[in-house]
Amino acid sequence: MEDQIVIAGPTSQKLALKVAELLHARVVTTENKVFPDGEGYLRIDIEEEHEFKGKDIIIIQTMGANSSGDQNLHIMELIMMIGAVKRMNASKIRVVVPYFAYSRQDKAFRPGECIFAKEILKWIEMAGATEFYTIDVHAESIFEILKIPAYNLDPMGVLAKELAKRSEDPIVICPDKGAYERSRKFAGYLGKNVQVIQFIKKRDVKTGKITMEGDLPIQGKDVIIADDIIASGGTMAKAIEIVKKAGAKSIFSVGTHPLMLKNAVFNLMKAGATDIIGTDTIDSAFMQVSIAEVISKAIQSNTP
Ligand code: R5P
Repeated sequence: MEDQIVIAGPTSQKLALKVAELLHARVVTTENKVFPDGEGYLRIDIEEEHEFKGKDIIIIQTMGANSSGDQNLHIMELIMMIGAVKRMNASKIRVVVPYFAYSRQDKAFRPGECIFAKEILKWIEMAGATEFYTIDVHAESIFEILKIPAYNLDPMGVLAKELAKRSEDPIVICPDKGAYERSRKFAGYLGKNVQVIQFIKKRDVKTGKITMEGDLPIQGKDVIIADDIIASGGTMAKAIEIVKKAGAKSIFSVGTHPLMLKNAVFNLMKAGATDIIGTDTIDSAFMQVSIAEVISKAIQSNTP
């Protein structure tokens, strides 16, 4: 669409190109660096500022901690891009954050805790965003802080399509209570009769130590363990170990956001994962499924 321009933020270049192609929109890149004193710099690569006047601007910038920097820098870059686009008098500023960092800090679990997820959303809105999009956010309740429309897009359909090719008799394991609705939805995309089994996971709020229990009639089954985030891999590895012991035929570890920090890959494979399947909300070796179509469809459906 002629009036739409996609800005490929420094962290989401590949994904932004795909989304722009699906929207038939112009795509512009950015120039970024960090000065020797640690301060950031970012420029949207355009010739004249009036190019954005009256346009429907879509900024795509994910926030994962990876080789291209830390999540704090990515958040800062996003806020700067929104501010610059607002200055240029765009008619709409749609912010797409495929992986929303800090989403697990969605409430005060202990007295005095800061709720990072909500504070970051406030900044995004204050900077000038007119719509907010993210994928499979850990807790949608954080949107209550916003006045602008916010959309939590569902990657389960595209993930299930991929998994359906690889499993004959699948069963979905849900690693904790919070993931149950997501797992049920996922199983629904795989087929009418696909069963979901929920594990009981407990995490010590002070030490972070995880314990998990589950009862599993899964002998000879293709098991899919689906979660929103795979970070340290602790949750997933624990679930894989239990499933492996119970005699699963294959174990697919599915994470919408495969952060895969430190030894996560090693731990998951060692525990018995057949494969690790993630989306391209974060650039990684595990982005086997693209959510570009999910994003472009959501934007199209909000475009008159
Ligand atoms: C927690 O409630 C999330 O849904 C994930 O299960 C968790 O964030 C995964 O983190 P990790 O890989 O570090 O166990």
